[in-house]
Amino acid sequence: MDSKILIIGACGQIGSELTFRLRQLYGDDKVVASDISYSNLDIVNSGIFEIVDAMDYSSVKTCVEKFNIDTVYLMAAMLSATGEKYPMKAWDLNMNSLFNVLNLAKSRFIKKVFWPSSIAVFGPSTPTQYTPQYTTMEPTTVYGITKQVGERWCEYYHSKYDVDVRSIRYPGIISWKTLPGGGTTDYAVEIYHEAIKYGVYECFLKPDSELPMMFMDDAIKATIDIMNAKAEAIKIRSSYNLAAISFSPEEIVTSIRKYIPDFKVAYKPDYRQDIANSWPKSINDSYARQDWKWKHRFSLDAITEEMIFQLSKKYNKSYI
Ligand code: SER
Repeated sequence: MDSKILIIGACGQIGSELTFRLRQLYGDDKVVASDISYSNLDIVNSGIFEIVDAMDYSSVKTCVEKFNIDTVYLMAAMLSATGEKYPMKAWDLNMNSLFNVLNLAKSRFIKKVFWPSSIAVFGPSTPTQYTPQYTTMEPTTVYGITKQVGERWCEYYHSKYDVDVRSIRYPGIISWKTLPGGGTTDYAVEIYHEAIKYGVYECFLKPDSELPMMFMDDAIKATIDIMNAKAEAIKIRSSYNLAAISFSPEEIVTSIRKYIPDFKVAYKPDYRQDIANSWPKSINDSYARQDWKWKHRFSLDAITEEMIFQLSKKYNKSYI
């Protein structure tokens, strides 16, 4: 019997690019994209698309049965900044969606689950440089709390119920196709759009606020690599540290000015500065590199080149 992949949250920043890549790899008929609404028409109109409410067990189960799904990528979540505005909604969405998918796997409706965790699992008492896999974790955001607890549940479902769940702790993800929403690392995407459209940007973090970051292509590669690795290779069933590069707003500005020399930035830190302050500056991801051979490709300047190239086309400008 042929089996299929379901992406929940396929209209979002990572979900959309993951959907395109999975369709490319496995064929349009093998990949079902889903979200709570038709918010990304590129996704809705380019393959199989279903409305699924991640918080409703029977909505997810109905879709799984209808398409004979065996693998689920659960990409729906409320991120750090929005989570601070709606703490209970963030808790409900992030936890209920995870339980729904883990319980489908426990009941053997599906075989394999991908669930993203985040650098937000760490907090102010965590060592900030080259943060190890195993260390103090006292997250101070609701988002971080949901991810930390989620990791514990993933490991629990794996060890008690033999659920094949795999997870990585994404850093901030930079991409040009679909805008991110509600995250603290979103400045590193917005800044490229504003630089190209207007040549000015007001940054909500301080100039020296360093955070771990990664280009979307690397994030998608990591996601597919961990899912394709042999089960025995996946030794960590909570979530793997994952890293590429780290930079601060002033460093990304320097990189952008190589293409847009007059680019002007004003710094106006807001409540998101406190969130950034509580997170690591860099991550030690040696377990991912060892266990399933993770390797990143994109440096900050390579990301800038690609972002400026793609967004110049989109906004009809000629910076490259
Ligand atoms: N990018 C996320 C955020 O800023 C972190 O995982 O909330």
